[in-house]
Amino acid sequence: MNDFIKEAKFISGEAEWKLICPKFRKEFTFTKAIKSAELQISALGVYEAKINGQRVGDLVMMPGWTEYAHRLQYQSYDVTEMLSESSVIEIGAGHGWYASRMGTPKTTNGFYGDVPSVIAALKVVFTDGSEELIVTDETWKAATSEVLQSQIYDGETMDARIVPQFDTNVRIFDYDKEKLIPTESEDIRVTEKIAVKKVIVTPKGEIVLDFGQNLTGYLEFTVCGSAGHTVKLYHGEVLDKDGNFYNENYRSAKALTTYTLKDGVQSYGAIYTFYGFRYVKLENWPEEVKAENFTACVVHSDMKRTGWFKCGHAKINKLFENIIYGQRGNFLDVPTDCPQRDERLGWTGDAEVFCKTAVTNYDAERFFAKWLRDMKLAQREDGMIPRIIPNILPSPNESSSSAWGDAATVCPWEIYVAYGNKELLAEFYGMMEKWVNYVHAKPGGYLWKDSFHFGDWLGIDAPAGSYRGATSEELIGSAYFYLSTTLLIKAGKVLGYDMTKYEELKENIRKAYLAEYLKDGRLTSDTQTAYVVTIHFGLCGCDAELKKAMGDRLIELIEEAGDSLRTGFVGTPYLLDTLTEIGRPDKAYTLLLREKFPSWLFSVNMGATTIWEHWDGLREDGSFWSKDMNSFNHYAYGSVASWMYGTAAGIKSDENCPAYKHFFISPIPDKRLGSAKAKLDTRSGSIMSEWYCEGDDVRYSFVIPEGTTATVTIDGKTEELSAGKYTRWGTLA
Ligand code: BGC
Repeated sequence: MNDFIKEAKFISGEAEWKLICPKFRKEFTFTKAIKSAELQISALGVYEAKINGQRVGDLVMMPGWTEYAHRLQYQSYDVTEMLSESSVIEIGAGHGWYASRMGTPKTTNGFYGDVPSVIAALKVVFTDGSEELIVTDETWKAATSEVLQSQIYDGETMDARIVPQFDTNVRIFDYDKEKLIPTESEDIRVTEKIAVKKVIVTPKGEIVLDFGQNLTGYLEFTVCGSAGHTVKLYHGEVLDKDGNFYNENYRSAKALTTYTLKDGVQSYGAIYTFYGFRYVKLENWPEEVKAENFTACVVHSDMKRTGWFKCGHAKINKLFENIIYGQRGNFLDVPTDCPQRDERLGWTGDAEVFCKTAVTNYDAERFFAKWLRDMKLAQREDGMIPRIIPNILPSPNESSSSAWGDAATVCPWEIYVAYGNKELLAEFYGMMEKWVNYVHAKPGGYLWKDSFHFGDWLGIDAPAGSYRGATSEELIGSAYFYLSTTLLIKAGKVLGYDMTKYEELKENIRKAYLAEYLKDGRLTSDTQTAYVVTIHFGLCGCDAELKKAMGDRLIELIEEAGDSLRTGFVGTPYLLDTLTEIGRPDKAYTLLLREKFPSWLFSVNMGATTIWEHWDGLREDGSFWSKDMNSFNHYAYGSVASWMYGTAAGIKSDENCPAYKHFFISPIPDKRLGSAKAKLDTRSGSIMSEWYCEGDDVRYSFVIPEGTTATVTIDGKTEELSAGKYTRWGTLA
């Protein structure tokens, strides 16, 4: 049997241990020579297993976060080399996503359950061909451990003096073992270690470590002191305007490490949780603070990097790095909104807008497939897609929103275009279709009316006191209804289905949309975002004159705003693409290169090392956006990277020939950028496109990998090319 873990039982500690992380232990001896040994393990919570004192594997936060009501992953490890004649296995359990409070700030109870439990089975094969199975069951012993608390939001509390006493019987926990599945997660591990950049003494006298990078992970430290001395470490993303430590924007998340020393030199790093931080404030440190005693461990889903971009503009390069870091910090088993405050949730809208960029930066197929399977399981019978996956919002908040729920169509489609996996598209087709039908069944006929929507979330044109941009939420909803229907049709055609019904629906949506929202040549919502979605989603149809009028108005609105954007989560990802599409890439560059608020480079100028939730999370005068919602590591606006790859460097996928079997190279240079270079390690090989300006001339070079073809357009001249290295010259427009 492959999943021999099902022979084991879920074991937990005493109910009264509550926040304390339990440990479980079993000793065993073998009389025969071992040929191989495999450990299968999982937890409702997160686990750390040790055999003979040695940690099993290098993965953290396992078994990951799924819709626990439907499925729970287990991991398998080859532990042959770790066993000896007489061995001991110890498994520690942290509360993880399962037993930590999640989402609702006021509770202290675990979201899915109050205490963690683990399940494990060790299968040993001997050289004589016989086997032995050691499973978690009533024969194991439990102990409270030195980890007194470990919560996703609140951090870890550790008393290093405690030596677990395994004198308590385990409790058997009832969870349907048929829900156990082999892991689908990308491995989560420490991918980088960062040294302290600076030790700061703030005006308030606080001692703060600065790692120079906003990241997700944990702090590792070595300390020498005497037993009973307690240190506290607070995590923060920014300093306040006076240079003091600040983390009010974490809201109710304590993100606090409390560590009580044993005697002597000792080291510690979080075992069952993670933090989002750049700064760490030390309280009650027992000795001189030496930078070399601290390291920041960067933790995330360890996807393979596939996309690189570099240009002749240092600040744009920094922006691109920040985008990469934003993805690293927020792709931790599920695509989260942010890694620091009391959310860290799989917000669908954030993933929807960033997906295209994400699948270019990294090979994120496995990562998204796992998350989309949870989405499919969480989809309500009527097709509703919850706002957050895994869904932790029970009724009555269990409703959707356009752009958020549309992750159900956008993400499967983007993954298909990037990696060309038809089976995966087929797996999610039903979910896509149910979503479109759900929206169709909403009031409004061919429009999406009378529902809750987040709208153009955080758009700068939001009315005072609101997070929702000025664009009509109903218009956005209807535009997304059109987009999702379009993507459903594309997917259906790939899979060979008759899509006539949906083609009719699509055309009806388009007609109804224009009839409702187009008045006297303008959209009823006269905003940048409204024109962007109307043009980019194809709502002008074949009407070139209408598209031109819409484009002209978009340009006017940008110019009226002093050549600046006014868009939020919905308009921003498509803004530069739309400007390029209407023949104004120069304006796209103007917005990209703008340095004053509101702009991408404003945050770079303010010292950002990740992408901010708000265009002005930190203002020029050093003041902050309200602490209620002000993350400095939110990737949505990082979606601009797909324009850098696709237009600035000019490498575009071809949805009719996915996985870059055929693609387009059509860079649009701009003197203000000086040069640009992108490299994509696609499933079909490594693509490169580069240009640089020499006066008014531009030198282009590109690489088309073996087995692929590309349509190359340079200076308005198009060629069909097969594999090879090429150079071309052109002039600036
Ligand atoms: C999150 C967002 C999310 C939103 C819903 C916020 O609190 O951080 O990124 O999409 O709620 O509008």
